Amino acid sequence: MTANLHSGQPSRRPYVPQAPAGTNRFGIHPFDAPLGAEVIGLDLSQPLSAEDFARIHRAHLDHHVLVFRDQRITPDQQVAFSRRFGPLQIHVLHQFQLTGHPEILVVSNVVENGKPIGLGDAGHFWHSDLSYKDKPSLGSLLHARELPAEGGDTLLANMHLAWDTLPVELQRAVDGLQAEHTYLARYAELQARSPWRPDLTPEQVARVLPVLQPIVRTHPETGRKAIFVSEHFTTRIAGLPEGESRELLDQLFAHSTRAEHVYRHRWQGNDLVFWDNRSLLHLAAGCPPELRRVMYRTTIEGDVPR
Ligand code: SIN
Repeated sequence: MTANLHSGQPSRRPYVPQAPAGTNRFGIHPFDAPLGAEVIGLDLSQPLSAEDFARIHRAHLDHHVLVFRDQRITPDQQVAFSRRFGPLQIHVLHQFQLTGHPEILVVSNVVENGKPIGLGDAGHFWHSDLSYKDKPSLGSLLHARELPAEGGDTLLANMHLAWDTLPVELQRAVDGLQAEHTYLARYAELQARSPWRPDLTPEQVARVLPVLQPIVRTHPETGRKAIFVSEHFTTRIAGLPEGESRELLDQLFAHSTRAEHVYRHRWQGNDLVFWDNRSLLHLAAGCPPELRRVMYRTTIEGDVPR
C-alpha cells in the first residue's frame, strides 16, 4: 500500500471527554486521520457500567473505529462485550470457528498439521462484513492474539466521506438504486489461489443467497449517508445493462477507497479494534506468509439497510 495513508497516530491535541463522576476514567483520543480514535485506560475484562457503555457507543458513532489498547481479554469476554451492541452473527465458514465459541471466527494464516486454523485470506478485497446478508453486520471486533513482526495492517475507508465527496453527477446516477451482493462473487477466484476456501455444502450455499442492497444507505443511528458497495461482494446494479452497471461500480470502488478516505491500522499487541460496517469498508493488507498472525473476530448483526 502507498506510504501516504494516514498513520493512525493520535492527534497532537487529544480530545478527552469528561467522564461522569464514579465511572472509569478512560481517554478517547481521535486519530489525525479520516476516521478512528483510540481508547486508553479501559479494561474490557471488567464489566462496563451503563455510563461507560454510553460513552463508548457515542464515540463509536462519531469516529467509526475504536482501537481499545492492551486488552488482555478471553474469548468469553470478547463475546460478552460484543453482545452489548446486539446479537452476534455466525460466519458461514463454520470450519474456522474457535472451538467452543461459534461466535468467534478465527482469522489466521497459520497452518497446523496440514490444516489451516483460521480464514487466512479474510479481507483480501475491500468489503463491509456480511453485506451479502439481509441484515448485514453493524460492526466487527477484531482482537490481536498473535501479530507478525512485519505487515499485517488493516485499512479502513470512510464511506460517509466517500459519499460526501462523490461528484454530483455520480451521486445523481446511483442514489435510489440497488445493487446485488453475494458471498460467492469472488469465492472461486480466492479458492483457486489459497488453501482457505473449502467447497461449500448445499446448506452453506443456501445461507448466502444473493441479496439486493441500496447503493447509498442511511446510517440507522446517525442519519448520515454512506456508499454501500464493495469490490468483494457487489456484482451488479439492478435494472441497468451490464456494461453501464460495471462502469458505475468501478467508479464507485475507485472513489470509495481513495487514500484521503483511508486510515491504516498498524496493530499493537492485544489491540481490540471495533469498526462500524455501516460506515466503512476494510481491507487486510497481508503479511509475509511465514510470519504467524492470529486474530479473533466477532460480528454484530445490524439493521436491514435503507
Ligand atoms: C476481516 O476482513 O475481517 C479481516 C481483517 C484483517 O484480518 O485485518
